[in-house]
Amino acid sequence: MQRSSCSARDSTSTVTGDTEYPPQPMLALILGLVSLFAIALLALTALVRPAMAEAMIETTAALPSTERQGELIRFVRQECGFCHGIHLTGGLGSPLTAAALADKSSDALEATILYGRTGTAMPGWMPHLNESDANWIVAALLKGFPE
Ligand code: HEC
Repeated sequence: MQRSSCSARDSTSTVTGDTEYPPQPMLALILGLVSLFAIALLALTALVRPAMAEAMIETTAALPSTERQGELIRFVRQECGFCHGIHLTGGLGSPLTAAALADKSSDALEATILYGRTGTAMPGWMPHLNESDANWIVAALLKGFPE
């Protein structure tokens, strides 16, 4: 009984060994390729994820670089000054002095800068300014905008 099953197993194993051995390198190749893809994908997400996290932080909180802050000061003086006055004390647009904005919500002011105010001449500045820019501009206006 034991001997017969043993010999049967032997015979099948040699048969399967003979017939299945040739496809195995192919299988190994496929498995190797799949795991290579998986590793590449993991490496890619590992690389991309910090960049995405950084971008998300930037749009919510991060301060613009000092270089960007300089650009923003010139931008506000020129583009916004066109309507709000060179000294931001008002013109076609309402005054943007610290005193005039003191009791207004920063979030609402930021939204006004990014999206504009429908029904008024105030345009949205979304393509030129991102959230951190608007955030910084509002904070700067509330402190008294730098010259
Ligand atoms: C084409 C003219 C025009 C330009 C350019 C302009 N604004 Fe305005 N802005 C207005 C007007 C008009 C209002 C008042 C809207 C209203 O009556 O509610 C306004 C309102 C605002 C307010 C809300 C003030 C408040 O008291 O609630 C902010 C903040 C503001 N502008 C910021 C800016 C900034 C920053 C820029 C430049 C990036 C800018 N504006 C450029 C016309 C302009």
